[in-house]
Amino acid sequence: MSQQQWNSVDDYFNSLLAPDDKALHAALRDSEAAGLPHINVTATQGKLLHLLALTQGARRILEIGTLGGYSTIWLGRALPADGRLISLEANPTHAAVARANLARAGLAGRTEVRVAPALDSLARLVAERAEPFDLVFIDADKPNNPHYLERALELTRPGSLIIGDNVVRGGDIADADSTDPSIRGIRRFLELIAENPKLTATAVQTVGSKGYDGFSLARVNG
Ligand code: SAH
Ligand code: DHB
Ligand code: MG
Repeated sequence: MSQQQWNSVDDYFNSLLAPDDKALHAALRDSEAAGLPHINVTATQGKLLHLLALTQGARRILEIGTLGGYSTIWLGRALPADGRLISLEANPTHAAVARANLARAGLAGRTEVRVAPALDSLARLVAERAEPFDLVFIDADKPNNPHYLERALELTRPGSLIIGDNVVRGGDIADADSTDPSIRGIRRFLELIAENPKLTATAVQTVGSKGYDGFSLARVNG
């Protein structure tokens, strides 16, 4: 199996099931123009996030790691008119690009990008006793994933869904002896999920236009 085949299948699925509209296309174009890294989710993955949020009937969504707001648009579009999405981003340039992309997508009223290291923003949300989130998408600096999980558990309710991006990393995740801080962070994250009796979870490997990776899904029991 080759990257070329994965691209062809993604192109086919995208054209059928996750076609690019003006706002999504422009979001990627302007992210590229601003020099942001190409590490957004793919269109079919974005559509999966959208479907999961719809299935959840999510009214409140928390995203950790905004980049240019591409995944944020997919998630934000699943919200009802009075829904709310808070996305956490440390890099002010990324946040500025994301805000413009969200405004063009008509989501400025439902979405908010908070610019600070996510651990600080999460501590503030906990201190503010923020209403629980129905869905949390964890997609920022992977070494902090164990901390992000801990905070996500404080900020959710029974029935909430916690999604972790990039849990496969080309297969490196299976290396128990890895010294890569990202791999160690994701492995600890998955172990904490697995050992938590309050979570029902799985992880799925994916291939596509962004190569070989995967995501984890955990539901807070109740
Ligand atoms: N969810 C986006 C991709 C996010 S890429 C999408 O799929 O479209 C990861 C983002 O996390 C980057 O923008 C990076 O600047 C941000 N990030 C890295 N470390 C962070 C931290 N400690 N706090 C908040 N954001 C961080
Ligand atoms: C990286 C981060 C991501 O969130 C992603 O989806 C792909 C790659 C990275 O830091 O390399
Ligand atoms: Mg990611």
